[in-house]
Formats: sequence, C-alpha cells, structure tokens
Amino acid sequence: MTAARLSDQIEVFTPLLMAVEGRLQEVASEQAGIPGAYAGQVIRAGGKRLRPLLVILCSGLADPSRQALIDMAAAAELIHTASLIHDDILDQADTRRGAATINHLQGNHTAVLIGDFLFAAAFGLLTRTGCPEAVALMTGAIQAMCQAEIEQKEAVFQFSVTEHRYLDRIEKKTAALLAACCGAGALTGGAAPEDVASLMAYGRNLGLCFQITDDLLDFTGDSAALGKPAGADLAQGILTLPVIYLLQNFACEQGSELADGNSNPVSLPCRARLREISRSGSCAQPDLDYIRQAVCQSPALGQARQKALDCARQAAACLAGITPETTRQALLDLVEQVARRQR
Ligand code: IPE
Ligand code: IPE
Ligand code: MG
Ligand code: MG
Repeated sequence: MTAARLSDQIEVFTPLLMAVEGRLQEVASEQAGIPGAYAGQVIRAGGKRLRPLLVILCSGLADPSRQALIDMAAAAELIHTASLIHDDILDQADTRRGAATINHLQGNHTAVLIGDFLFAAAFGLLTRTGCPEAVALMTGAIQAMCQAEIEQKEAVFQFSVTEHRYLDRIEKKTAALLAACCGAGALTGGAAPEDVASLMAYGRNLGLCFQITDDLLDFTGDSAALGKPAGADLAQGILTLPVIYLLQNFACEQGSELADGNSNPVSLPCRARLREISRSGSCAQPDLDYIRQAVCQSPALGQARQKALDCARQAAACLAGITPETTRQALLDLVEQVARRQR
C-alpha cells in the first residue's frame, strides 16, 4: 500500500507538485549501487508528500524562482524520508509505506548510511536554492528531531510523563519540520516577515495535530492500512497522549476515591499493572493487550482526539491574514484532511 497523497484535491498546485515528484525521481535514479537502489525504493514507495506540499502552498504561488521552490520542496521530502529511515532503525520497524524497511532487509548498518545519503541529497538541493534563511530553518528542524528522538528513548516506560513533556517532544519530533517547511516555502516565495511567522505557527499546530493523530492511529489503526506497524509505540515503551490521558484519569479517580471512599474496580488493578511495567521496563503481549483495551474503553482516546482537533483549530486560526485566497483555502482544506486522516 502507498499512502494517498494529501494534495489530490489541490489541483491548482498540481504542475508544481509534479515537478517536485520529478526532482525526487531524479534523486532516486541518479545514483548507482546500493544507495541508489534503496533510496529509489523508499522514494518510489510514495507517502503523503505533506512536507513538499506545505513548501509549495506557503510559497503563495508567487513563483519568483520556480527551480528554487522545486528544490526546496524536494529537499523537504528527502529530509523527511531520511528521518523515517533512521526512525525505523530506532523503532526496529519492519515495514514502512507498505514495504519492508531497509533495516529489515539490509540491517541497521546499511540503513543508517542510506538515511545519511538522503540527508546529503537534500543538502545538495538546498545549496541550490540561494535562500540561507530557509536552509537554517531546515537544519534547525533536523536538530530538533534528533533531540526529540533522544528524549523519547530516555523516557521509555516512564509513566510519570506529563502532557506538557509529550507536547514538547512531538513539537520537536514532528511539528518543527512542518513549521520549517511552511517558513521555507514562505521565504522562497518572498513573503513578508509577519506572514512567514503566521505560516510557521500554522505548520507547528498542524504538526502537533498530525503527530497526535499518528499516535491515535497507532492504537486504533491496523498495520495493513497504515503501511507500518500498528501498536508499536507502547510495545517499545513510547507513551503517547492516549496513555497519558488514561493515567491522568486514574489520578483524578484516585483523588475522588480519597474524597468519597469509592474505587473504580477496573482502574486499581490497571494502575498496579502499570507500576509493575514501569518498574520492569518492559511490556509483554498480555500487558500490551491490557493497556490497549484500557485505553480504548476509557475516555482517553476521545480526549486525545479532542486535543488533535484543538491543534487543528489553532492551525486554522493562524491563517486569518494570509493571502491569496487560493493559498489560504488550500491550507485550510489541508487542516481538515490532516485532522481526519486514517493513515
Ligand atoms: C510519518 O510521517 C512520521 C510522522 C511524523 C508520524 P508521514 O505519515 O507523513 O509519512 P509518509 O511520508 O506519508 O510515509
Ligand atoms: C515520528 O514518530 C518520527 C519522525 C518524526 C521521524 P513515529 O515514530 O510515531 O513515526 P512512525 O509512526 O514510525 O511513522
Ligand atoms: Mg517510528
Ligand atoms: Mg507513529
């Protein structure tokens, strides 16, 4: 399965997006040997192409230098793809975009280097854009992603994780790159500084919505539809918003227990079980099934969904002063699609 493109309904941007696709295919085919083969495979496997779409949409179609814009957008997708290859090593994932991952097929050694290869290809394109401010946004986003992946690893099975820490982490892991794509597109299109700032705030909120939705789909989706392993976050000890809300709800119940002497027959054993998992630092299949069921039967899923929608609303609000109308409407439609996405 390859994920449907998010841009399918944004026809006015189609020629530019096709040119970006062409640039990506050039990168995929211009190298011989193992790097060319695997880089090509993962690029051709598709994906939603959200990052290049943001670069293009935020350029406002001003088109001051079409080639620079295409290079910028293709570079954004290559950075994203490289980060996925490295993320799959860290997560020990065996599928991505409906196909076997490079780490699964060739081992971590080759996968690290293919990721590096694609980062280098991205920087090759970025150097041609002639927009150092935009390049700085991209490098900042990559550094934020690295920071977040380290923090995520340090926090495995820490059931004391707060919503604030989670939001800070996903902002760096995912929202920073989406914000950078919006900023880079706007800068390439010659936008005024206040519009660059608004579009970056839009990208940041869209990114939070995107990752919260991804974390929800890890609970509610299935691997075949997602094209990547479902249920993988918890199995690795990565605690995401649905689990955080489940724990918060327990904490509230505990407070009311003390107040009125009542106890919830489900939550007490569940709390004990979570404490045990946290202590042992691992989660066997029955524990996973248990927590997944607790999350799915509690209000936590709905609460996380609500948080994703709040972020979507905030993203939309950032577009108030954005022109032209075609761009503003396309960015608004994109919020809808991201908030409703099922894969
Ligand atoms: C996956 O991103 C990584 C996350 C930030 C959740 P996408 O869901 O955009 O991946 P592709 O590009 O469509 O495969
Ligand atoms: C996003 O997090 C990874 C990056 C931003 C690189 P996830 O680990 O949730 O992404 P998936 O689910 O593997 O696509
Ligand atoms: Mg992952
Ligand atoms: Mg995920």
